[in-house]
Amino acid sequence: MFSSSYIELSKAALSKNIRFLKKQLYPEVLLSSVVKGNAYGHEIEKFVPLAEECGIHHFSAFSAEEALRVYNSRQSNSDIMIMGCVDNDSLEWAIENNISFYIFNLERLERTVKIIKKLGVSARVHLELETGLNRTGLSGELLEKVVALILKNSDRLHVEGVCTHLAGAESIANYKRIADQLTSFGELCSWAQQAGIETGLRHTAASAAALTYPETRMDMVRIGIAQYGFWPSKETEMQYILREGEQPRNRYTDPLRRVLRWKSRIMNLKQVKQGSFIGYGTSYQTMKRQTIAAVPVGYFHGYRRSLSNLGKVLIHGRRVSVVGNVNMNMLLVNVTELTNPQVGDEVVIIGKQKRSQITVSSFSDMSNLLNYEALVRLPSEIPRIVVD
Ligand SMILES: Cc1ncc(COP(=O)(O)O)c(C=O)c1O
Repeated sequence: MFSSSYIELSKAALSKNIRFLKKQLYPEVLLSSVVKGNAYGHEIEKFVPLAEECGIHHFSAFSAEEALRVYNSRQSNSDIMIMGCVDNDSLEWAIENNISFYIFNLERLERTVKIIKKLGVSARVHLELETGLNRTGLSGELLEKVVALILKNSDRLHVEGVCTHLAGAESIANYKRIADQLTSFGELCSWAQQAGIETGLRHTAASAAALTYPETRMDMVRIGIAQYGFWPSKETEMQYILREGEQPRNRYTDPLRRVLRWKSRIMNLKQVKQGSFIGYGTSYQTMKRQTIAAVPVGYFHGYRRSLSNLGKVLIHGRRVSVVGNVNMNMLLVNVTELTNPQVGDEVVIIGKQKRSQITVSSFSDMSNLLNYEALVRLPSEIPRIVVD
C-alpha cells in the first residue's frame, strides 16, 4: 500500500443497512441509491458495484459527470437518474444512454426535444414540481408550458416520474410544512394528470422523510445518508426508537451501520522529555515524559487543522489525543498510556476499533461540520478498499 491512509467500505454494513431500509419501506417501493457527492465520500466507482451486490438497481446522481461515473462502474444494467445538472453536450449523452433526468425548466425540455428529434430516439424524464423548497421545481405558468411541450412530443418523451424534494423532513416539528408540501404535490400531480400526463413513478422522499413520514414514500424513495449508515438527524432516529417502542439507553442498538472506516498506521514513535513542546508552535507542552506517535495524516488528507489539540483517534481500541498542531501531512498523538505501542500499529481516524468508536459526527462536531459535509470532504485521493 503506497498510501499513508485508506478508507475501508464494509459490505456487511451496507448490506445490513439496505435490508433495514427495505424492511422499513413498503415492499413495492423502489429504493434509489443517492450517490451524489462522490457517493457521500465513499467513491462512486467502489460504492456502485457494492450497492448492486446488496440488491440496489437504481442510482440517483446530481450531475451528468457523476452519472457517467455510475454508468462506467455499474456491473448490471442498473437505472441511472440525474437530479440536477446536465449541460447541452451531456444531455445528448444521457438521452443516447437511456439515462433519465429531471426537468425543472423549459430550456432543458426544449433542448431535449431537439435532441430526440435529431437522433430519432426517445427520452425518459422526471418532472420536478415546486412544493416549498424553492430551489428547483415547476409550478404555475412554467409548468403549464412544460406540460404543453411534453404533450406535443409525447411520442418520444416519456414521463417516467413526477417528483419533488421535501424541505424540513429531518424534524417532526415540521409536520405541518411536510403536510402542506404533500398537498401541493398532490394538487400539481392531479392537475398534470388531468392535462393528459401519465405521472409514472411518484417520488418525494429522501432518507428523513422516508423514515419518518410513511405517506411520503409513494412509488420510489431516494435514499442517501441512511444507506451509508447515518441517521439524517438525531430526531429521525428518536422517532424510529419511539415507534419501535424501545428504550434508547438500555435495549436499543442502532440498526444502521457505518459503511466507511478511515484508517492509518503509526509511522514513528518518540520518547519526549518533560516540558517539551510538541510539533510547530507552543500549543502543547508535555507535563511529564511522554510517548508521541506520528501518524501520516494531516490537513492535506482532510484531517482539519482545527482539530489540533482536540481530535481523538483510536489505537489499541483506546481513544488517544491529538497533541500539538495538525501538520500538512502528519498528526501527533500522545500514546503514553498504551502498552507497548509499535510502529505499524493500526490507527482509526473514523470508525470502530475493538469496542471504541470515533463517529463521523463526533469527528465533525469537533470540527463543526454536519455528517453530510464531513463525509463529502474526505479527499478522493485516499484509496477506498472494499472489505467484507
Ligand atoms: C433531490 C434529492 N433527493 C434525495 C437526496 C438524498 O438525501 P438524504 O441523504 O438525506 O437521504 C438529496 C440529497 O440532498 C437530494 O438533493
